[in-house]
Amino acid sequence: MMLINNDIIMNMHGIIFSCTMCFNSLLAIFFLTLLMAMKLRLATLCTLSVAVPGVLVSIILSGAMGLTIGRLQGLMDLRTLTVREVLQGIRVVKAYAWEESMEEKIRAIRTDELGCLRSYFRLAGNFITLFATFPRLIIISGLWGYTFLYGRHNVSNIFAAMQVLTGLRASCETFAGTITRVVNMWPTVQRIEKYLKLDEAPVIPGTRAPDWVTIWPESSQSANMGNLKLVGSFSWGSETWRPAVLQNLNLEVRRGEMVAIVGAVGSGKSTLLQAALGELYPAPGKHAEAVLWRPEVCAYCSQVPHIAEGTLRDNILFGQHFDQERYAEAISAASLENDLNLLPGGDGAHIGHRGISLSGGQRARVGV
Ligand SMILES: Nc1ncnc2c1ncn2[C@@H]1O[C@H](COP(=O)(O)OP(=O)(O)OP(=O)(O)O)[C@@H](O)[C@H]1O
Ligand SMILES: [Mg+2]
Repeated sequence: MMLINNDIIMNMHGIIFSCTMCFNSLLAIFFLTLLMAMKLRLATLCTLSVAVPGVLVSIILSGAMGLTIGRLQGLMDLRTLTVREVLQGIRVVKAYAWEESMEEKIRAIRTDELGCLRSYFRLAGNFITLFATFPRLIIISGLWGYTFLYGRHNVSNIFAAMQVLTGLRASCETFAGTITRVVNMWPTVQRIEKYLKLDEAPVIPGTRAPDWVTIWPESSQSANMGNLKLVGSFSWGSETWRPAVLQNLNLEVRRGEMVAIVGAVGSGKSTLLQAALGELYPAPGKHAEAVLWRPEVCAYCSQVPHIAEGTLRDNILFGQHFDQERYAEAISAASLENDLNLLPGGDGAHIGHRGISLSGGQRARVGV
């Protein structure tokens, strides 16, 4: 989100104005070239002999700038993510004395990034130099061609042509000033588009449930409806290249039943729970056999508890209204009474990044 904000604030701010200016200057260049052809007649060929290579070089330079800026943004993302990861886990990094290897990793990315930045500014420098000299060369070549072909006596025509050439020069400068921003816009637009088009989870209760999912309401009395059922093969995304991470499942958990899932590390226990929540997609080609029955509201305590910014009470209620009886029941069920007595401020204690650090067990109990 931070990176997207950076894209929006840095690269997209005022982009419509830049696009309009770029388009207007292109239009002006086109009409001024026509006017110049009328004034300079055959000498226009001299101007074109300078303009055509100049335009071709500028197209190549702006394409290369677009590619470089795309690569630069990818490296910036990678560096920001790595630095954030290191800062978030700074205790672990310090405890295992990983500082040097982390520093090396960040430095390697930074070196690539600086190389990219150097290429970008070299290209941009060439581009700006080209557009600073290009309009002058157009004027010189046009006037030289005219005086060479038609002689110096037609001063009124030369002055009229000078006006056109000066307009052309101003338009070229505006074009050069705005085209770099327009070129930089494409990688930004692609990144924002990619972010906005990320897949949603297949099941979002209250808004969307695909045909293979049956969401039963809390009050359902039907015998089968109270059960959790998960059948089929599932993968982490809807794309066809995604392999199935859970295969040929046939799980049914009856209402009130307690089930323990046991397996080796990384064997897919948490993935199975996420599939039961409806966060996985049927594997490619296995859409027809996928079935999920689940209640509309599920309590889920993830392996790594999520603690939000706020007080302990905010984290327990998590947006629900305060009901003294239910609240006391929840605290007792999660064995939190002792923690409430220990923590300064009880359930009003501020937890999260800026508050008290909870122990692993306390975090798990708050999650429950
Ligand atoms: N969001 C995800 N996208 C893609 N692959 C994932 C994702 N989450 C987990 N995996 C992969 O799925 C596999 C199973 O992971 P999972 O977390 O389900 O294991 P686990 O059985 O819960 O392990 P543990 O006992 O350590 O908790 C791992 O190889 C992991 O890399
Ligand atoms: Mg797990």
